[in-house]
Amino acid sequence: MKKILKKTSKKNVRLIQQKILLGGISPKQFLKEYWQKKPLLIRAAIPGFTGILDANELAGLACEDDVQSRLVRQSRGKWYLEHGPFPETRFAQLPGKSWTLLVQSVNHHLPEAAELLQHFNFIPHARLDDLMVSYAPDGGGVGPHFDSYDVFLLQGQGKRRWRVSQQRDLSLVEDAPLRILRNFETEQEYVLESGDMLYLPPHVAHWGIAVGDCMTYSIGFRAPSAQELGTQFLTYLQEQVQLDGMYTDLNLSLQKHPAEISEDMVKRVGAMLKKIRWNKQVVAEFLGVYLSEPKPDIVFDTAAGMGLHAFRRAVANQGVELDLRSQALFYENEFFMNGEKTAMKPGWAVCLRLLADRRRLPAEAMAAVLEDRDLLALLFSWHQAGYVRCGSR
Ligand code: SIN
Ligand code: CO
Repeated sequence: MKKILKKTSKKNVRLIQQKILLGGISPKQFLKEYWQKKPLLIRAAIPGFTGILDANELAGLACEDDVQSRLVRQSRGKWYLEHGPFPETRFAQLPGKSWTLLVQSVNHHLPEAAELLQHFNFIPHARLDDLMVSYAPDGGGVGPHFDSYDVFLLQGQGKRRWRVSQQRDLSLVEDAPLRILRNFETEQEYVLESGDMLYLPPHVAHWGIAVGDCMTYSIGFRAPSAQELGTQFLTYLQEQVQLDGMYTDLNLSLQKHPAEISEDMVKRVGAMLKKIRWNKQVVAEFLGVYLSEPKPDIVFDTAAGMGLHAFRRAVANQGVELDLRSQALFYENEFFMNGEKTAMKPGWAVCLRLLADRRRLPAEAMAAVLEDRDLLALLFSWHQAGYVRCGSR
């Protein structure tokens, strides 16, 4: 009974926090009225939020080899784009105004950033792209543009003026190194202060301009194009498809032109290709593998040295958590860890679903793992691959 009470009150706290995050509306109402439909400005979405790192720390990340970063500058009406990693000296050479540093996937590098994303758990993990953090001195920004994905723009340190437009004209400036709208017409304008947040659906034009030193946290949700899904699905299907038989032309008739591909051949091959079939399960498995696949630049640090017994002792005391770069999804009894599919055995679902949802399995939840040798062995193999770590914050 005590346990249930504790659970309920924790759940309520989460709901209340999410209501504050969404400006007093529930996640359900947000999804119904705003998600993919219209912008939403939320004042004090995270009261007291001033960010999780400062400009120097962000610049430090942008110097690292395994971090994706960009510098955008505007000078005399022209835009300039540079890609990181940057030498430390680069930042000392920058002017006092009108540039911005953008660092991608900060959630892969800082546990606090991954923690921040937990606030957005009302959107499926399969839709999450990353947390991008930007720093700009006064006047800095990436110019008027639109994105193809949903984004929550959370203001950290300082202030940013956002100009928003639902204009239809999305034509871009030619020859610019980044996507800049040719004719941006401000429809709404808001100055966001620390902790304020602006949700924008895909294709809503926006332009953020720093008012003094400013840091913005973009929580981006990917929306794959039909073309991307189609080509990726075909690649996936290629490895799954198993067709029997060979092309046959038992009744081959004499052709006038030997170089001609005959109607008969086209028909026969068409009939053979029609045997390529897929069902809902194949689509779900494709999604699980594709959407949990790490981006090509991600390299996991394999863990050597700890044996199975030491691992068992460690997780019994501390639990396990996903590596910051890991993506875990599931569909029915299939579990997907960083692009690898595992069939969940009976009894595994509660633990593994918890691990995927919360990104951690606390020590209290380890009993079922410790009793099941196969499940422990699976977690151990993920630990060796660098996908999970001992300990649960
Ligand atoms: C920024 O943080 O400067 C850019 C965010 C965006 O406009 O998507
Ligand atoms: Co944008």
